[in-house]
Amino acid sequence: MDHKRSIEHFSAAQKVMVGGVNSPVRSFKGVGGSPLVMEYGKGSQLFDVDGNAYTDYCLSWGALILGHSPRNAILAAKKTLERGTSFGVTTRAEIDCAKFIGHAVASIDLIRFVNSGTEATMSAIRLSRGFTKKQMIVKFDGCYHGHSDDLLATAGSGVASLAQSSSAGVPESHLKNTLSLPYNDVEVLIKTIERYANDIACVIIEPVAGNMGVIPARIEFLKTLRDLTKKYNIVLIFDEIMTGFRSNLGCVQSDYGIVPDVTCLGKIIGGGFPIGAYGGRKDIMNCLAPLGGVYQAGTFSGNPVVLRTGLATLKLLNPDFYRVLNDKCETFSQQLNDFFVKNAIAVRISHYKAMMSFRFSDQIVENYADARKAANDEIYRKLFWYLLEKGIYMPPADLEAFFISGAHTKNDLAQLGNALKEFFLK
Ligand SMILES: Cc1ncc(COP(=O)(O)O)c(C=O)c1O
Repeated sequence: MDHKRSIEHFSAAQKVMVGGVNSPVRSFKGVGGSPLVMEYGKGSQLFDVDGNAYTDYCLSWGALILGHSPRNAILAAKKTLERGTSFGVTTRAEIDCAKFIGHAVASIDLIRFVNSGTEATMSAIRLSRGFTKKQMIVKFDGCYHGHSDDLLATAGSGVASLAQSSSAGVPESHLKNTLSLPYNDVEVLIKTIERYANDIACVIIEPVAGNMGVIPARIEFLKTLRDLTKKYNIVLIFDEIMTGFRSNLGCVQSDYGIVPDVTCLGKIIGGGFPIGAYGGRKDIMNCLAPLGGVYQAGTFSGNPVVLRTGLATLKLLNPDFYRVLNDKCETFSQQLNDFFVKNAIAVRISHYKAMMSFRFSDQIVENYADARKAANDEIYRKLFWYLLEKGIYMPPADLEAFFISGAHTKNDLAQLGNALKEFFLK
C-alpha cells in the first residue's frame, strides 16, 4: 500500500502545526511511522490522500455511530447551514435537541451545550463546587475526562494519595484538590470518601471506562459510589462522553439502573461536529449562570448546524438499531475470544456492547494497573500496521477503544476477524 502523498502532506503539516497535528494521539507516536492524511469517508470506509480505502474502527474516536457521512445527518447539516452558521442566540435546534436528550436520558432535567467533552467535564466540576461549596474532586486512575487542569491526573502511590499530573504546566495547587483512586475498588472508595467527605465536591467517573481499554464498572462499585455520594452531599458525575448513546438511548446509566446527578455527553450527540454537553438534576443545574452564580459561557455553544446534525443522528437511533449493533459486536468478540482460548493465545477482546479493545493477556482486567499489565505497545504497533496493510484502520494507540457503526457490515467484521486470526496465528 502506497502512502507517498500522506508522507508528503504530513511533512508539510509538521512545518505549520505542532507535531503536524491538532491532537497528540493523531501523530501515531503510539504505533510509529508516518501518520495517514485522510481525504473523505463514506459508510464504514475511510479514504486517504493516496486513494487507499480502510474500514474504519476509530470512527472519529467513537463519534460516528452511523459511520461516515450518513445521508440524513448530512442533509440536516446542509439544510441548516444554508440558513446561516451561527447566531449567538437561542435557536430551535437547541431546544429540539435538548428535549430529545432530556426525554432519552432520565437523569437529565436541564442541559447546557458546550463545544467539547473537555469543556463539559470542566464545567460540571465547577458547577459541583459551586453547588456543594466544597473543593476536592475524586476521579479514577485510567479514566480520561479531557484535558482541563483538575482532571489531568493519575494516582500517586498509596491509597488516596494526592494525584500527580499527567502533563507539564498544571499548577500543584490544582492537583492538591484532585484524588485519583483505583477503578472498581470498593474498599478504597469507601475509605476515601468517608475520610474526605466534608471536602469532596464531586466524583467523576466513566461508568464503562473506554480510555484504558474497555472496562465496565462492577455494579456493586457503582452502587456503593451512588450511596456514598448521596449520603455525603457529593455530586456524582457520570462522564458518558464516549458511552452516551453508544449502546442505547438511555446511555450506560440506564443499563446499570443508577441515576447520576450530572451527566457529561459529547461525541455522538454532535453527529460528527464538535460538541459537549452536561446536564442533570434541576437544583444543581440551576446554580449555573444566568440563574445561579456559577459562570460558564461560549460563543459557539449550542451551534444550530451542530445540533441539527446531532439531532438528525439521534433520531435514527432506536432499540432495533442498538440491538443489531450490539449483537454484531457481541458475536464478533465472542467468536474471537473463543478462537483465542482454543488456540491458547493470550489475547482477549474486552468489550461492552459496541465498544471494544484488545488485551494482550488472558487475565481479567478490572482497573488501570491491570490494563497496563495487559498492554503491549510492541505487539499493538505490529498489529496496527498489519491491519492497515489489509485496509483496516484502528485507533493508533493501544488502550484506546475501537468501535463499529451502523454502517459496518457482517463482511467488514468477518474481514477484521480473519485478519486478526491470521496475525495471531503467525
Ligand atoms: C470519556 C471521555 N471524556 C472526555 C473526553 C474529552 O472530550 P473532547 O475530546 O471532546 O474534549 C473524552 C475524549 O475522548 C472521553 O473519551
